[in-house]
Amino acid sequence: MSIPNHTLQVELRGGVEDRSYPIVIGRGLLADLGAFVPALDDVPVVLVTNDTVAPLYLPRVRAALGTERKVTEIILPDGEDQKDLTTASHIWQRALEDRHERRSMFMALGGGVVGDLTGFAAACFLRGARFIQLPTTLLAQVDSSVGGKTGVNHAMGKNLIGAFHQPEAVLIDLDTLESLPDREFAAGMAEVVKYGCICDPQFFDWLIEHTDALRGRDGAVVADAIARSCAIKAEVVAKDEREGGLRAILNYGHTFGHAIEQVMGYGNWLHGEAVACGMMIATRISASRGWVPDALVERLSDFLDAFGLPVAPPSEMSAQTFLDAMALDKKVDEGRIRYVLLDRLGRATLVNDVSCEEIAEAIA
Ligand SMILES: NC(=O)c1ccc[n+]([C@@H]2O[C@H](COP(=O)([O-])OP(=O)(O)OC[C@H]3O[C@@H](n4cnc5c(N)ncnc54)[C@H](O)[C@@H]3O)[C@@H](O)[C@H]2O)c1
Repeated sequence: MSIPNHTLQVELRGGVEDRSYPIVIGRGLLADLGAFVPALDDVPVVLVTNDTVAPLYLPRVRAALGTERKVTEIILPDGEDQKDLTTASHIWQRALEDRHERRSMFMALGGGVVGDLTGFAAACFLRGARFIQLPTTLLAQVDSSVGGKTGVNHAMGKNLIGAFHQPEAVLIDLDTLESLPDREFAAGMAEVVKYGCICDPQFFDWLIEHTDALRGRDGAVVADAIARSCAIKAEVVAKDEREGGLRAILNYGHTFGHAIEQVMGYGNWLHGEAVACGMMIATRISASRGWVPDALVERLSDFLDAFGLPVAPPSEMSAQTFLDAMALDKKVDEGRIRYVLLDRLGRATLVNDVSCEEIAEAIA
C-alpha cells in the first residue's frame, strides 16, 4: 500500500449530516484508490477524464477499480470549452444509459476543468450523486478540487452556472505532476503563494526561502507546499462553505485577474497567470495605502518572476479597462466592485473603495 505524505480533513459539520472529507496527498495513490476512498467497495463508477490525461493516468485508475465493477469511462476532448452544459449533458446521457444510480461514484481525473464539470454533473445527477476528485494539475490540487465549488461556463461568462457539491475525498497523487508542463505548474504556484499572502506569513516566508526547490519540483518540498495550501483552503471553507463572507478572501488577485482573462481572451492567459498579475496589483495598492511594506511587493514579484509568471499587466489595459471589465464580474456587491487587499502580510481584507487613480498607479 502507498503511504501518504499528508492526510488532512475538510471539516463540514453544519446541516443534517457530517459531510467532512479527507484530502490525501502522496505518491502512488491512483494505483491504490480503494485504500483511501471511504466506502468504495463494489460501487459503480462514472469516470471522467480528458484525452491528455487519459493516456497518462487512466490505466492505473482502471486497474485499481478492478475488472468486476461497472465503470462508465468518459474521455472528453481537452480544453476549457468542454466546461459547458452540452458536455455535462453528455455525461448525464452516458450515466443514464449505463443505468447508474445515486450511489454511483463520479470520479474526476484531471485538472480544474474536468473537476468542475464532473462535480457539477454529479451534483445534478439524480439530485446529487457521490463524487471524488483525483486532481492532476497543481492548480486543481491546491485550489479547485477542494471546497465543493462546481460548475460550468455560460456564453454570458465563466462559471456562471454551478452548485456547491462537496466531494467525498480528494486524492492528490504527486506522481501526476511529473508530466505537468512548466507553464501549468507555475500557474498553480500563483495560487500557492496566494495562501501565504492572505492567511499565513510564515508560509509566505517559507515559500520564498524554498523558491529554488519549488522551481526544481523537489518532491518533499512540493508536497509540503500543497499540504499547507490545502489546509488553509480547508480551514476557510469549513468556516464559510458557501462564500457568505470569509471565503471571498480566496479571491485575492482574482478580481483584477478575471479582468485580464476577459479582456485578453480566455485561454491566452492561464488563470494562474492572470491571478499572479492580479495579486501584484492588489499588493501594490495595499502598499501604497501603507498597509504592507513596499518590500513585500518586491518579494512577491521576485517569487512569481522566478516561475516565469507575469507581474505586469498587458500594456493595452488602462485603469478604466480594468474597471469596465471588473464591473461585469460576479464579485460586484450592490453595484460596487469588491476588492481583496492585504491589511498586513497574512491577513486579507475586503474593500469596495479602490479608486481609478489607485489602480492607475498600481499598473503604471
Ligand atoms: N472550483 C473551484 O474552486 C475553482 C478554483 C480555481 C479554478 N477553477 C477552474 O479550474 C479550471 C482551470 O483548471 P486547470 O488550471 O487545472 O486547467 P485544466 O483543467 O485545463 O488543465 C490544464 C492543462 O493541463 C492538462 N493536464 C492536466 N493534468 C495533467 C498532467 N498531470 N500532466 C500533463 N498535462 C495535464 C490538461 O489536460 C490541460 O490541457 C478553470 O475552469 C477554472 O475556472 C475552479
